[in-house]
Amino acid sequence: MTDDVLLVHGGNPLEGEIQIRGAKNLVPKAMVAALLGQGPSRLRNVPDIRDVKVVRGLLQLHGVTVRTGDEDGELILDPSHVESANVADIDAHAGSSRIPILFCGPLLHRLGHAFIPGLGGCDIGGRPVDFHFDVLRQFGATIEKHPQGTYLVAPQRLHGTKIELPFPSVGATEQVLLTAVLAEGVTELRNAAIEPEIVDLICVLQKMGAIISMGTDRTILITGVDELDGYTHRALPDRLEAASWACAALATKGDIYVRGARQLEMMTFLNTFRKVGGAFEVDDEGIRFWHPGGELKAIALETDVHPGFQTDWQQPLVVALTQATGLSIVHETVYESRLGFTGALNQMGAHIQLYRECLGATPCRFGARNFQHSAVVSGPSKLIGSELVIPDLRGGFSYLIAALAAEGTSTVHGIDLINRGYENFMAKLRDLGAHVELPAEQLATI
Ligand code: EPU
Repeated sequence: MTDDVLLVHGGNPLEGEIQIRGAKNLVPKAMVAALLGQGPSRLRNVPDIRDVKVVRGLLQLHGVTVRTGDEDGELILDPSHVESANVADIDAHAGSSRIPILFCGPLLHRLGHAFIPGLGGCDIGGRPVDFHFDVLRQFGATIEKHPQGTYLVAPQRLHGTKIELPFPSVGATEQVLLTAVLAEGVTELRNAAIEPEIVDLICVLQKMGAIISMGTDRTILITGVDELDGYTHRALPDRLEAASWACAALATKGDIYVRGARQLEMMTFLNTFRKVGGAFEVDDEGIRFWHPGGELKAIALETDVHPGFQTDWQQPLVVALTQATGLSIVHETVYESRLGFTGALNQMGAHIQLYRECLGATPCRFGARNFQHSAVVSGPSKLIGSELVIPDLRGGFSYLIAALAAEGTSTVHGIDLINRGYENFMAKLRDLGAHVELPAEQLATI
């Protein structure tokens, strides 16, 4: 067990206001995009989370100067002197994040070669990178896998190509975008991911001088250009963090105003939140989420790629569903192992049964492959404080929600993992009136 522990005294509604900033699933990628420019880029609304620190470190190893700007949350990234990094230094970042895979295209354009360390990221399935390497080969890169990482070489300029992804992968779509913008000729990408963070990355690239058009049927056309410049961009807000706090409001019978949350990217979540019985109110500055009293309602839920119900919203919502009356059905179709976190909820008193069958309208890739990827949640259940070990980012935040909704005290281990994607979450919890504390022995070491 890890020794970063939080004691959570549950049973009180979370009430108050918090502020969210730029999306974890856009900001590090926009930072990588800065590598493609001739001049400096200015990225605003950058949250202070670990994924940003990892990418900042990797950029600096490659000669990019990164400094904070005048505005709070502003980074200025200057790639005027991109250079090869020492392999051992890059390797020190192995296992820290999944973003390093996106350095491939930009480094191949800038240097003709790239070394990518072993990847990290949440343990929510196999998380292969076969699509990434397949598309890079199509662009003309040569790839060699070594025990420490992957070497890629592009002796000549990469060239545009026709690509059809087997699944609308977010990462593989970003890989294509970041590579195709400077490749020679036109790239046609079919079955692309169209998540709001992808669209925001396209906006960043367009500001840099790229020519990218989005079709109506998950097709993206990219016309390669010879040179890109820097950009100035304010990152779109983190709709995944906003939904996490919304679920915390619902599960604890609370009332949270999420400043910075935006309706447009959250429409699917908001519909589901309303079906469960949650209340919300949108204004120009954010969204207020609250439990209006009375019973919550069980629902049937299927995760999907955008514009479907985002997989990262699933785990926090499942905690709220343990408080709904009746049987809720959840079908996870994006990651094969994103329901394992429910075991700990059962230990707290929830009644969640996992199934290998597709319990949804759409049969998915996982039904025939024997993964426990569907769940039936029977509620409402009284949750009791427990000993919890955080398994992954969203699962970990969901444990916090469960612990806050539960009666009694929970001891949550591995709390540091939450810092990967939730800025300042301890301060936010305290602002919302949560009773959380570090154990005495941990305080003594600070
Ligand atoms: N896949 C492959 N081969 C590949 C790439 C993906 O089989 O080469 C499969 C995956 O195994 C998965 C599916 O395709 O079953 C979707 O994966 P995707 O590539 O879309 O995910 P990702 O780019 O690795 C990003 C986010 C995730 C988010 C997903 C889906 C980042 C850093 N991560 O991951 O966010 O769940 O898209 O929207 O952007 C999180 O924030 O907690 C998180 C896990």
